[in-house]
Amino acid sequence: MRIVMVGSGYVGLVSGACFADFGHKVICVDKAEEKIEALRQGIIPIFEPGLDALVETNVKAGRLSFTTELAPAVAEADVVFIAVGTPSRRGDGHADLGYVYAASKEIAEAMKGFTVVVTKSTVPVGTGDEVERIIRESNPDADFAVVSNPEFLREGAAIEDFKRPDRIVVGISDERARPVMNEVYRPLYLNQAPILYTSRRTSELIKYAANAFLAMKITFINEIADLCERVGADVQDVSRGIGLDGRIGSKFLHAGPGYGGSCFPKDTLALAKTAQDYESPVRLIETTIAINDNRKRAMGRKVIAAAGGDVRGKKVAIFGLTFKPNTDDMRDSPAIAIVQTLKDAGAIVAGYDPEGMDNARQMMEIDFTANPYEAAEGADVAVLVTEWNEFRALDLDRLKTIMNTPVFVDLRNVYRAHEVEPHGFAYHSIGKNSG
Ligand code: UDX
Repeated sequence: MRIVMVGSGYVGLVSGACFADFGHKVICVDKAEEKIEALRQGIIPIFEPGLDALVETNVKAGRLSFTTELAPAVAEADVVFIAVGTPSRRGDGHADLGYVYAASKEIAEAMKGFTVVVTKSTVPVGTGDEVERIIRESNPDADFAVVSNPEFLREGAAIEDFKRPDRIVVGISDERARPVMNEVYRPLYLNQAPILYTSRRTSELIKYAANAFLAMKITFINEIADLCERVGADVQDVSRGIGLDGRIGSKFLHAGPGYGGSCFPKDTLALAKTAQDYESPVRLIETTIAINDNRKRAMGRKVIAAAGGDVRGKKVAIFGLTFKPNTDDMRDSPAIAIVQTLKDAGAIVAGYDPEGMDNARQMMEIDFTANPYEAAEGADVAVLVTEWNEFRALDLDRLKTIMNTPVFVDLRNVYRAHEVEPHGFAYHSIGKNSG
């Protein structure tokens, strides 16, 4: 299959490289010339484990290439994926579809022969209909089918998720697209990944419903964690106790500082807006959004309480700034609101992150350090915000010696009280007695 990926951001790059690795011929297109130039030289603009090697192998094999020229690539293509950004629109929280529609128009003007156009970007229900309308209007002779094929990739594990998905969802409105999509995903049959064919609108909604459900699941356990602290229960045991019930499942039940990232905050908001527009509000999700927003600042207040109720003039060390480990992504990271709350209360903040510091510099003014110990030098509280592996085996004796007061707030429950307290720390975690 000759595949074109329009948009070489996170989703486009990972999907493009993986499709090439399946043996398809893939051209990734992007308007940003510097990005394409860098990619041609093997420089990957994002941090994703394994992606650089995958790109390199497939470029060398002649299956993967990069260009800023959309038209010639699309003219030759069997399948064109739209993987451009759909940011939250300023002001109303709806997904901004400007890039999707602009790409649709350009694709329409360039396509030759029967072409399957696939929306991979997360787009609200009905976007496929609009893409179809735009293409028909821009090129009345075009022979095409518009398909919805949402991605379910987790940052940091995106390649694994792409190659071993739980399922592939494909929404079609024209039967001619089915054999083409079967061919695109044929290598995955070997992994026995089920392909679920649905209507296009259903497929578009599945993506939002999946992300909203997961965001709700996390928020549920976060609230249970707060309750655990009050009643003297242990949230990790509650998670295990409910997760072993096959109807509930153990995943996405880790209590923490609130979800962040490029998908959950944006997608929950967009779903809530769409639902309101259709006068069918999703109140559980509206509430999830509100609880999660409040939680991030509440985590800042939790740190202040751990420091004795006042952080004015005190130093706080933050371990981990990204919204989760194995990514450099800072979008909607809880660290942003936590740092802000601490600074508002007069704290001096130092922070370290293994990959996220370049992005973090754009979002916060703190003292960035070369490692967690430098951040903790003279600190009154150390806060573990992101569960990077390198924070799982901290030298607690060293930390105790260099800190001004040994207070450790573990917002990811990486440690246990009985591991930390013997080193002389006051230890605070999420959803436990010591909370
Ligand atoms: C998510 C979805 O998992 C993926 O299917 C979708 O395509 C994009 O959005 P991602 O944002 O990369 O992926 O990360 P994910 O691992 O899902 O975590 C999202 C947020 O939830 C993070 O802030 C994480 O720390 C938090 N989280 C996750 C928890 O707090 N507890 C959990 O149990 C799981």
